[in-house]
Amino acid sequence: MDFFDRLAKDFDLEPLRVELASKVGDSMIQVLSPATERQIMDYGAGTGLLTFKIQPYAASITAVDTSPNMLEVLREKIAQNRVPNIQTLLWNVETDPLLSYSFDAIIGSMVMHHIGDTQNALNRFHAMIVDGGRILLADLDPEEGDFHPPDIIPHHQGFDRDVFGNCLARAGFVDIQFSTAYVIQKPTAAGIVKEYPVFLAVAQK
Ligand SMILES: C[S@@+](CC[C@H](N)C(=O)[O-])C[C@H]1O[C@@H](n2cnc3c(N)ncnc32)[C@H](O)[C@@H]1O
Repeated sequence: MDFFDRLAKDFDLEPLRVELASKVGDSMIQVLSPATERQIMDYGAGTGLLTFKIQPYAASITAVDTSPNMLEVLREKIAQNRVPNIQTLLWNVETDPLLSYSFDAIIGSMVMHHIGDTQNALNRFHAMIVDGGRILLADLDPEEGDFHPPDIIPHHQGFDRDVFGNCLARAGFVDIQFSTAYVIQKPTAAGIVKEYPVFLAVAQK
């Protein structure tokens, strides 16, 4: 079973994840335009920590993930809270056909480092955003390989902002801006508390 499928039921029990999604959500809310950015995709939504934070500002959010168990937890939360404007979708930007509809904005937090071909994913996100729409992606700055537990190996140990920005530009995005959304503080397996800055990249189609 996939790492996130195994983790799904306990994902929200880790306060650090809740705090991170909340802070990333705050930084996105400062940037999003609720009047025009109505239809949103949250890619790598997991249990919906970020989705729920953004939901009051959107007409509709499609929460997309490749883990059936993470989406199952999210669906339980949607039902418990009777939230009418979040839909879930099991879909993989790397392998599945492009969706036939477009979004005003695609957002995502802490998912890009789990995707092998960054450029291909950004190209495909670009194709599913309306003209003038935006992409908002939060992820780790470069880290030394000690952010994740040993039972999960991410495709990327964070991203250099210049390199990531160039990928966004090659995909066709313009007005590319970076800020620091949050700085995670957590102990490594060796027990040393380290800081892991998280950037927010915002760009327009
Ligand atoms: C660290 S969690 C972040 C979840 C959520 N964005 C949040 O901030 O709480 C990463 C999520 O990305 C999903 N994921 C991993 N690889 C993926 C891929 N290639 N495509 C879509 N989702 C993926 C995992 O299943 C997991 O739900």
